[in-house]
Amino acid sequence: MSAPAGSTTSAGRVVVGEAVRRRTFAVISHPDAGKSTLTEALALHARVIGQAGAVHGKAGRRSTVSDWMDMEKARGISITSAALQFAYRDAVVNLLDTPGHADFSEDTYRVLTAVDAAVMLIDAAKGLEAQTMKLFAVCKHRGIPVITVVNKWDRPGKAALELMDEVAERTGLTPTPLTWPVGLAGDFRGVLDRRDGSYRHFTRTAGGATVAPEEVFPAEAAAAREGDAWVQATEESELLTETGAEHDQELFLAGATTPVLFASAVSNFGVGQLLDVLVDLAPAPTARPDDQGSPHPLDAPFSAFVFKVQAGMDTGHRDRLAYIRVCSGVFERGMVVTNASTGRPFATKYAQQVFGRERETIETAYPGDVVGLVNAAALGVGDTLYADQPVTYPPVTTFAPEHFAIARAADTSKYKQFRKGIDTLAGEGVVQVLVSDRRGDGAPVFAVVGPMQFEVASHRMEHEFGARISLEPLPYRLARITDAASAGELSSARGAEVMRRPDGELLALFTDKWSLGVLVQNKPHLTLIPMVAAD
Ligand code: G4P
Repeated sequence: MSAPAGSTTSAGRVVVGEAVRRRTFAVISHPDAGKSTLTEALALHARVIGQAGAVHGKAGRRSTVSDWMDMEKARGISITSAALQFAYRDAVVNLLDTPGHADFSEDTYRVLTAVDAAVMLIDAAKGLEAQTMKLFAVCKHRGIPVITVVNKWDRPGKAALELMDEVAERTGLTPTPLTWPVGLAGDFRGVLDRRDGSYRHFTRTAGGATVAPEEVFPAEAAAAREGDAWVQATEESELLTETGAEHDQELFLAGATTPVLFASAVSNFGVGQLLDVLVDLAPAPTARPDDQGSPHPLDAPFSAFVFKVQAGMDTGHRDRLAYIRVCSGVFERGMVVTNASTGRPFATKYAQQVFGRERETIETAYPGDVVGLVNAAALGVGDTLYADQPVTYPPVTTFAPEHFAIARAADTSKYKQFRKGIDTLAGEGVVQVLVSDRRGDGAPVFAVVGPMQFEVASHRMEHEFGARISLEPLPYRLARITDAASAGELSSARGAEVMRRPDGELLALFTDKWSLGVLVQNKPHLTLIPMVAAD
């Protein structure tokens, strides 16, 4: 790790020194690729310091730490995000969880606004799957460097070179494998370390429950030991070298290449190597650009932004937790900070890491760290918090919704509760709330990335705000940003409708790609801008 530099005060040097040690990342993958298994394996290799939020698991297999919502319990999944902090070598690693259920929601995307790097986890047999690609699109949009891990190499799967072609073709990133498997998928003996030509042989431990011992052999010994499997690995590695698939730190950080590792998370193979790569190659937090685009120095006084708000965790207390990512300075529990969007003070007396029901108080945090602020009723997603030196970070991107439904109060006498609930859910980013001028009744339209967001919203409207709702699904599946000039023409188009977001932005909604395609062809002058993660 490079030496901290640049700050003129000793307090500033401490902050920069701590920031340089941080690695804040998320795993992007399709359900079942092995994200939970990898998370557990990483924790096994490192010294876990704390968890903010819930660690998810699956019904009957691993216990779900969180039981914040009945729905989570019933389904055995976590709808909420978590941050796991651990120490590895000299580094402090923050692993932010991206909820991975098939119905994943905007929360999954939002986590990616708070990380500095991503690990793209691929199932060796399945290659790049739908959700991996969606999440990758967000990383690409944000310029987040991506490390690729091919998982489940202990099971039959695709050929390694075929997977590299797939990564290159579908992501546009040049894969630069750091290791190369010795033995085909299903016969994982170890890896050729392409950086020094050595062989790292893995030893299986019972059920992968402990750190898998690695033995390192020089090339000659590997050839004698593994025979044809070693020859094939070296030949393929040479082929990669000829095609220029060598790691280049600048190209990696610029989002042009992706280092690749081969692993078997369930057997703990390749997990230590991933941690080393994260520490050695993944970027530390850097000065985050403010809403004017100027980088806000790491050693400026404390600043952070809210990337997630979680409510209803404790129905008895109407609890609300806001997760912030520290961007500059030191967070010290108890400090009174300013919410840039309202100008109001916010006391951080209750700053916690949360372990399901058990909560541990956080005293200090540095750039890259995640803090859960309790009783955060006044905070919304995207809000900036600062101490002493005012700053505002750009709003958190809203992602392309794919499902839409009109929300109506089931009991019209509860209209006040209904409005309050809708405003709260919109502020928290549980759903996006649109208004259609065409529909005269002014009923809000919920727009979501995953249908489960509808369930969360309905559940909370009924149980938290006492306003049961009915949802009438709308047939739209695609959204594009448009302008007032185009909106007029779009309103008469078949299979399309224009709605307004609270920030005034106009969204054109379409039932399918076909109706959008026809319109683009017939009326190329219309403004139809894709949103992040729109396909
Ligand atoms: P997810 O969080 O990405 O959804 O995936 P998860 O870790 O839950 O893993 C999905 C399934 O894949 C699990 O099997 C898990 O054991 C298995 N798995 C994960 N990593 C590997 C690997 O490296 N090799 C092999 N062979 N399997 C792996 P399951 O049948 O759903 O559960 P279990 O009963 O096996 O635990």
